[in-house]
Amino acid sequence: MDTAAIGSEARSRIGAAQSLEELEKLRVAYLGKQGSVSALLKTLGGMMPDERKEQGPKIHALREEVSDLLAARKAEMENAELEQRLKAETLDLTLPPPELPKGSVHPVSQVMDELAEIFADMGFAVATGPEIEDDWHNFTALNMPESHPARAMHDTFYFPAEQETQGNTSGAQEHRMLLRTHTSPVQVRTMRKVAQENPGGAPIRVIAPGRVYRSDSDATHTPMFHQVEGLVIDRGIHLGHLKWTLETFLKAFFEREDIVLRLRPSYFPFTEPSVEADVGFAIENGRRVLGGSGDEPGHGWMELLGSGMVNRRVVEMGGFDPGEWQGFAFGVGVDRLAMLKYGMDDLRAFFDGDVRWLRHYGFSPFDQPTLSAGVGAKS
Ligand code: DAH
Repeated sequence: MDTAAIGSEARSRIGAAQSLEELEKLRVAYLGKQGSVSALLKTLGGMMPDERKEQGPKIHALREEVSDLLAARKAEMENAELEQRLKAETLDLTLPPPELPKGSVHPVSQVMDELAEIFADMGFAVATGPEIEDDWHNFTALNMPESHPARAMHDTFYFPAEQETQGNTSGAQEHRMLLRTHTSPVQVRTMRKVAQENPGGAPIRVIAPGRVYRSDSDATHTPMFHQVEGLVIDRGIHLGHLKWTLETFLKAFFEREDIVLRLRPSYFPFTEPSVEADVGFAIENGRRVLGGSGDEPGHGWMELLGSGMVNRRVVEMGGFDPGEWQGFAFGVGVDRLAMLKYGMDDLRAFFDGDVRWLRHYGFSPFDQPTLSAGVGAKS
């Protein structure tokens, strides 16, 4: 057969092919080793130069055409197959899913969850109390009687006194309502609840995270902020327990084994003795990084939290016999902990509600399972 005859036959047979196997057979028949086009190519070697000059381009063109026809028919079949599949499938599982808008966990919630998890491992439960508190729980029961000078440091938001609102004189100071200035009243509420429900019901091991309020506002103070209180009441509790607990908590929280704690004598009406806990830091790339002793050259101590042994009078007002029960307590700013761990520097941004800030500093409830995300699914 000559090129023209092979060409027209190939066009019609390839065009009529119905399956990929059929196409493959045709490819072998034309272009395979024994194929008719290959046979034609082989004849070129035995031709006289003039003839070869005439036949060569025709045979090469035929080979090219047949190979193009095969490829085109193959693509056609594949397209038809995809078309067929798309018609049959209503769902294309190979497409990437659309991105759904999702919220993020606020750093304060994240840190509170972290604290709850860390302290749960040490046997602490989470306690809560009201944010609208009375004067007695916020001050008096914490050994700050009416005339106590420490009250002045609290910049308290008071509600109008009862005398002012109702024109009577029965509203004694201790019933006066206020926005709690610290989480310490939860200590009192917890002790009294345990003492009442289950006399001698210690040991108590709780933390109380929550919102507190003071009339104060600048780059490091907002009128509302967050604290976490810790309270342990048991027999034979001493400063050693306090130090171990704080050290274990801070190492777990900052995820650094080299956290060094320094306890410094201090004063709080509700603890005796009282200590302030400092943590050592180093300066790395112009930033304070917690870890190591603050006494090393170039290092320093950062004041982190207040604590101490629960004052006997507080134990007593909590409903326990201070001869039998001792305890320690501590209070620390949650926002401050978040800033130190996650590197924010303006406290006010925490409460501006700017979605861009939240997107940047917020936590995905899915990447990092926390209590806020539902179950404390930490593996
Ligand atoms: N309530 C204190 C404050 O707001 C912090 C504090 C200090 C809490 C010592 C404590 C403590 O439980 O023992 O400044």
